[in-house]
Amino acid sequence: MQHEPGHDEKSSGILAIGNRTGTLSRAHIMSRNFRRKYYDIFSRFYDSFVALHSGDRGGVIREEFSAKIGLREGDSVLDICTGTGSLLLSLHRHVGVEGRVLGIDFSMGMLQAAKAKTASHPNIHLVQADAAELPFKQEKLNLVTCSHAFYELKGDTRDKCLREVSRVLKVGGRFLMMEHDVPKNFFIRFLFYLRIFSMGSRKALAILKSEEMVFRESFASVVRTTTETGRSKIFICQKA
Ligand SMILES: C[S@@+](CC[C@H](N)C(=O)[O-])C[C@H]1O[C@@H](n2cnc3c(N)ncnc32)[C@H](O)[C@@H]1O
Repeated sequence: MQHEPGHDEKSSGILAIGNRTGTLSRAHIMSRNFRRKYYDIFSRFYDSFVALHSGDRGGVIREEFSAKIGLREGDSVLDICTGTGSLLLSLHRHVGVEGRVLGIDFSMGMLQAAKAKTASHPNIHLVQADAAELPFKQEKLNLVTCSHAFYELKGDTRDKCLREVSRVLKVGGRFLMMEHDVPKNFFIRFLFYLRIFSMGSRKALAILKSEEMVFRESFASVVRTTTETGRSKIFICQKA
């Protein structure tokens, strides 16, 4: 299914196509169901947890991220694994009312929290979908973002997601990925590892280490930078 956002939305304002299984393996779907339940529960206290974990109570990191992106009024931007939609409002400020902001996530709990934040903006659309199967037409978007979530996507899911991101981006479009660097503070570092290992995740650490290489396989250019706080790293990847 190829979907033009803005159509078919249910009364919740969230388009639910999260149970598509088109090209996904049985293992992927089982793992997805488990992770989705986990995030449905986590959605209730996710924002407070992140504020403590990242020390970013005012959402400054996300504002800085959006400002670095170079969005223009009228652009179309997709935030994958959008969670509670913390990035969507700042993206919206950059693209304006003529632009279009899309957020996808597989957890309805997270999307409901995102909807509560963004309901007053008709050009912010939320879709329940898997990052490995983006329900959008090819070469329609100026930018795709992924904030503090790429480590979630492992192995085949990650590879499919990057192919999908590249497919939906216009020529010259960019994928921006922001991720926590390992925290320096002992307690915060403990929470960071707790979260990583709650995913069963020696693999996740391996991904964190090799992500630059993975991006280089999928994009024409890759630049790594860090936020001013030094707590998060940002990869800017451009499609040829
Ligand atoms: C750690 S949260 C990050 C949320 C948000 N981007 C932020 O900056 O706070 C990770 C999110 O990724 C979503 N997620 C994980 N794997 C996914 C997948 N394969 N497809 C869609 N969403 C996924 C989870 O439901 C969760 O909301």
